[in-house]
Amino acid sequence: KGLFTYDPGFVSTAATESKITYIDGDAGVLLHRGYPIEQLAENSDYLETCFLLLHGELPTAEEKENFLSTIKNHTMVHEQLSHFFNGFRRDAHPMAVMCGVVGALSAFYHDSLDIHDPKHRMISAHRLIAKMPTLAAMVYKYSIGQPFMYPRNDLSYSENFLHMMFNTPCEDKKVSPVLAKAMDRIFLLHADHEQNASTSTVRLAGSTGANPFACIAAGIAALWGPAHGGANEAVLRMLAEIGDESNIDKFIAKAKDKDDPFRLMGFGHRVYKNFDPRAKVMKQTCDEVLAELGMEDDPMLKIAMKLEKIATEDEYFVKRGLYPNVDFYSGIILKAIGIPTEMFTVIFATGRTPGWIAHWNEMISSDYRIGRPRQLYTGHTRRDYPAK
Ligand code: CMC
Repeated sequence: KGLFTYDPGFVSTAATESKITYIDGDAGVLLHRGYPIEQLAENSDYLETCFLLLHGELPTAEEKENFLSTIKNHTMVHEQLSHFFNGFRRDAHPMAVMCGVVGALSAFYHDSLDIHDPKHRMISAHRLIAKMPTLAAMVYKYSIGQPFMYPRNDLSYSENFLHMMFNTPCEDKKVSPVLAKAMDRIFLLHADHEQNASTSTVRLAGSTGANPFACIAAGIAALWGPAHGGANEAVLRMLAEIGDESNIDKFIAKAKDKDDPFRLMGFGHRVYKNFDPRAKVMKQTCDEVLAELGMEDDPMLKIAMKLEKIATEDEYFVKRGLYPNVDFYSGIILKAIGIPTEMFTVIFATGRTPGWIAHWNEMISSDYRIGRPRQLYTGHTRRDYPAK
């Protein structure tokens, strides 16, 4: 009694059992419900992977069709919710707006407050997966002062997202299949990553009995930081700051300097110390997108590739197992597609939603206790309030 383990950063503490995702960081293995991420990226698609994460098995053809139509059924948001946007400054960071509007969904879907009914939990999951792209696109449209686009249910999940962002495809303008596939892959590669900071936040919030929309809003807040989902945005800012290949050595030196807080964004991972399997697939997609757009000679990309080469050969990075992670390449792809940098983490949040909700659902379906970490108190011993 009174004894507990001190583990800052939860480096060696398992807070839960889970059947959803397996990671072997040393071997660079990532499995969702047993299936390798490389095979899912190649043969599956984002919504099928969402079904897999939620239900534990790949859907049959009929189940998949039903799932797709259920998601399409939920793509619109309540018209009242669109008024929330007007309360934000147009230059607000999109993640700030997302924290607000996703949490606000709790005010619209009161049946989702009944978290102990599995049917209602699944409806909440469907609502969140379906509405995240709609809200994400609304955040963007609001920031540039354009009207919101209604979702189009004749399009695939990714095509519809690009349509709501960029008003395509219209009569004569179709979303490029390569770009739509790249978008789908970005969502899929972010779909889940076991007990990362944002998922653990969702679980912790959920362990109090909070409703799913509030829990996912908490996850979005945790994702925002540059050490987590904010890294994709930080990568692009870093590449812009480097500006020219001739400056790379200076930035590498800064990253190695222990007196300088600068880190190479998009490098390193708490769990992967050899390579990030998602980054491998992402790099391949990155090459496809840049070829499709004729951007192979993009100066920023050249800086990125040189940085990658130096960092993967330099002793400092090799010794510490710091390799390009998923966010290194996703930022480059998103920029090429035309997504503004401030929106990158919103895209990550959209992709991660099935993972968050699958973990929340797994927890609520099992015997769980409120999450309540302990601490090592290092403050004052007892002292008396000064006499007046
Ligand atoms: N650049 C330079 N040095 C680094 C970096 C980096 N990006 N990352 C870690 N290090 C060094 C760090 O200074 C430390 O050195 P030393 O042992 O000499 O003190 C050593 O590597 C271990 O670092 P750590 O901070 O103990 O590692 P961690 O597991 O706590 O942090 C991380 C992991 C991802 C937060 C960190 O690598 C980082 O800040 N990377 C940059 C941000 C980034 O790309 N984040 C996205 C992660 S992938 C997507 C996601 O999951 O959200």
